[in-house]
Amino acid sequence: MLSLDFSTLTEISDEHGLSQDELSSQSEKLEEYLENIHDRDQGFYDILDNEKVVEEIQRFADAARGKYENVVVLGIGGSALGAICLEQSLTHLYGENRDSPDLHVVDNIDPSMIDELEDVIDLESTMFITVTKSGSTPETLSLYYYFRNKLEEQDLAVREHMVFVTDPVDGMLRDIANEEGITTFSIPPNVGGRFSVLTPVGLLPAAIVGIDIKEIILGAKEMRERFLSKDFDQNLSFQLASVQYLLNQKDKTINVMMPYSQKLIRLSDWYRQLLAESIGKAENEDGEEVHVGITPVNALGATDQHSQAQLYNEGPNDKLIMFIEVGDLGEKKDIPVLNPDRETTEFLKGSSFNDLIKVEKEATQQALVERDRPTMTINIDKVDENHIGQLFMLFEGATAFLGEFFNINAFNQPGVELAKNLTKEKLS
Ligand code: PA5
Repeated sequence: MLSLDFSTLTEISDEHGLSQDELSSQSEKLEEYLENIHDRDQGFYDILDNEKVVEEIQRFADAARGKYENVVVLGIGGSALGAICLEQSLTHLYGENRDSPDLHVVDNIDPSMIDELEDVIDLESTMFITVTKSGSTPETLSLYYYFRNKLEEQDLAVREHMVFVTDPVDGMLRDIANEEGITTFSIPPNVGGRFSVLTPVGLLPAAIVGIDIKEIILGAKEMRERFLSKDFDQNLSFQLASVQYLLNQKDKTINVMMPYSQKLIRLSDWYRQLLAESIGKAENEDGEEVHVGITPVNALGATDQHSQAQLYNEGPNDKLIMFIEVGDLGEKKDIPVLNPDRETTEFLKGSSFNDLIKVEKEATQQALVERDRPTMTINIDKVDENHIGQLFMLFEGATAFLGEFFNINAFNQPGVELAKNLTKEKLS
C-alpha cells in the first residue's frame, strides 16, 4: 500500500515546516469535511463500483485490439490527461512488446500536430475516440469534424472508426450518436472532467492499449476505503490535504510534484490540472472574494536536479516539494565502472542505477532539509496498475478535502468556462 512520509517537515524550522502537533492539528475537521464532500454529490469515488461499465469497456477494447493499428483520442484537459498518464505509466516507454494499437492523444489544435499525426496513421486502420463531457469544447469539436471529414472523404464508415465518450443524455455528440448508432460510452453527470480518469474517459484508451483496468479500479478502491475513513491515521487523502493547506498558510503557495520515475512524469501533468483547476477560485462558498489557489509545478527526478533544484534550494522559500519514490524500479541494472582507478568515478564502484536514483533522491531531499525547505515523500512499491489506481484516488480525495479547507467549490471551473465562451464569441 502507498504510504506518506512527512517526517522531513518536522526536521526543519516551525516557520517553514510543521511540528508533530501541527501535523495532526486538523484531525477534528475530518468528519465534517467528509460529510460536506458527500453532500456535494460528486461521483468520482462511487464510479468505482460500476463493474458493468468496466466489463463493457473491456469487451470493446478486446475487439478493437486486433482490428486497429492506431487509436487516436481527441479530447482536451480532463478528457485527455488521464489517458496520457496511463499510457506513460503502464505501457512500455519505447512502445516495444505491445500486442496492441499505438495510442496518440491529440489534446491540442496546433495544425502541425494534426499534420504530423496524419503522417503516421492510416485512416483505414485507425479508431478515433472523441472524448468530451460537454460535447461543446471548441478544440475537441474541431478535431472531431476534421477527422470525421477525412473518414468520409475516404468513404470509410464513421461507425467503424469512431467511438464517443460523452454525457449520457446531453450534448451534440450524444445527439449524433443516437442518430447514427455510433458506439458511445457515458461520463456520469456528477463526475467532472478532471475527476474522470476512472470512467471510460481514461479506462477506454487504457484498455485498448492492453492496460489491466480492473487492477486500476482495485487499487483505487483500496485508497477509497482510506479516503472514506473517519480515522485520521487511516485517511491519507485528508492527511495530504491538511499538510498542503497548513503549508499554504505559511506562504508555500507552490506545490512541486517530483517523481523519481520516468513513468510517472505524466502523472504530474494530470495532477497539475486537478490541483490548479479545482483549487484556484475567486470566491469562497460564502460568496466572498478570496482568490485562493496552489500553483502546481512539475519536476522529474533525477533529471530536474539539473534544471530546477537550484531554485528550490536557494530561491524563494514558497514551495512544498512532494517527492514520489518507487521502491522497485525494475530489474537491477549495474553500473560498470570502466575506469576504476580514476578518483572521479570511484564513488560509482559496485553501484547500480537502482541505487543511484534512490541515493540521488535522498541527497536532493537532504539538501532541501538543510536549507529549511519543506518536503515530503509519497512512497509506492512499484509503478503498476494497482498503485496508479491508488495514486489517482489519493490525489482526487486530497483535492476534494483541500476544497473544504479553503471553503471553496473544488468541482466547478468558471474561469475555464469563461474562456470557452469568449472563444466562441470571438469566432462568430
Ligand atoms: O476538468 C474540466 O472540467 C475541464 O478541464 C474539462 O475536462 C475540459 O475543459 C474539457 O471539457 P469537455 O470534456 O467538456 O470537452
